[in-house]
Amino acid sequence: MRSLESALAGRLDELAAQDRLRKRRALQHAGATVVADGRRLLNFCSNDYLGLASAQPELAAAAQGSGASSLVTGYSPELAKLEAAIADYLGRDRALVFSSGFAANLGIIPALIGRDDLAVCDALNHASLIDGVRLSGAQKAIAPHRDLAAMEQALSAQHAGQALLVSDHIFSMDGDCADLAGLAALAETKQAWLMLDDAHGFGVVGTDGRGVAASLDQDAAPVVLGTLGKAVGCNGAFVAGSGVLIDYLINRARSQVFSTALSPLQAVLASTGLAHVRRDHWRREALQARIAQFRAGAARRGLPVQASETAIQPMILGSDAAALAASAALEADGCLVTAIRPPTVPEGSARLRITLSAAHTREQVEQLLAALSRVHEQTAHAA
Ligand SMILES: Cc1ncc(COP(=O)(O)O)c(C=O)c1O
Repeated sequence: MRSLESALAGRLDELAAQDRLRKRRALQHAGATVVADGRRLLNFCSNDYLGLASAQPELAAAAQGSGASSLVTGYSPELAKLEAAIADYLGRDRALVFSSGFAANLGIIPALIGRDDLAVCDALNHASLIDGVRLSGAQKAIAPHRDLAAMEQALSAQHAGQALLVSDHIFSMDGDCADLAGLAALAETKQAWLMLDDAHGFGVVGTDGRGVAASLDQDAAPVVLGTLGKAVGCNGAFVAGSGVLIDYLINRARSQVFSTALSPLQAVLASTGLAHVRRDHWRREALQARIAQFRAGAARRGLPVQASETAIQPMILGSDAAALAASAALEADGCLVTAIRPPTVPEGSARLRITLSAAHTREQVEQLLAALSRVHEQTAHAA
């Protein structure tokens, strides 16, 4: 097996030899013109058919659309700055922004592996990872949740090509964490490429909120996905890793090549959000305080919440009907907690997915705990 780096570098060399290697250029848009490398050019390759991308009447002067995918004309200086800021924050060589996390996973996985290859996945991986693996056509092995021994066994199975080990960092419906060090060690011994989806950890957990990157360096975790729609409070997503990985995905991730880039406005919003994520340590501290308060309160009241240390605090109720009834009762009590049902979660594990935020006050969390207690008592009586 070849390392991710040398395999992708080889594939990039092949593209270059065929004159097929593509590179993005940072372009500043102004009406029907762009500024490229200091020169103003007439822009005849955007999809800005009505001329609205650079003249959105209701928006400020800075608010522009991107006009096309980043390989065509959509790579703005604002987007370049955002990618540089993400890479700097995570201590990665580079980052590449996608329009969403779902699109990123659908693009990245089939770019990395194909029919001859093997994907080993955690059973509770996010739907976008599952669909990315399906789309790749690779052989697939689903290991029970957080079962490193089963993953090891699956990685030992016969396969002609490359193995990709794929996992969420913080699992979106359960709030528990993958064993990052264990996954990295397994990937190393089995010469598998490791891809981690840090949608729920980026900005929130680890030193300075660096998520996976706080625990694993680029060699140990060469492909890290994060989203800009959760802790950063905007939309979009990114993959962070080596320059070779990013150059390769610019060429081969179809949801990057064939999809409109984030607009400069979205990129500026995300950069502003990211700057807050980096410096507002008090937000992470406030969130931790709310999580501790919630968990202590839930334990005192005997509420059956899962053993999660993160902002995602699920309370499994079993049947869909029980989850829906609990959600309705909470809403009547002034708290919005959506019921999560199959197929989002396994059959028989419908739940309340409670998520906490630095924006919640102590009083609000107490109000939620009191409402949950009432729901729990009613459920216990009904049973
Ligand atoms: C683990 C995980 N990955 C990816 C995504 C998709 O991200 P986005 O909402 O940006 O498409 C989500 C969103 O729910 C997620 O929870």
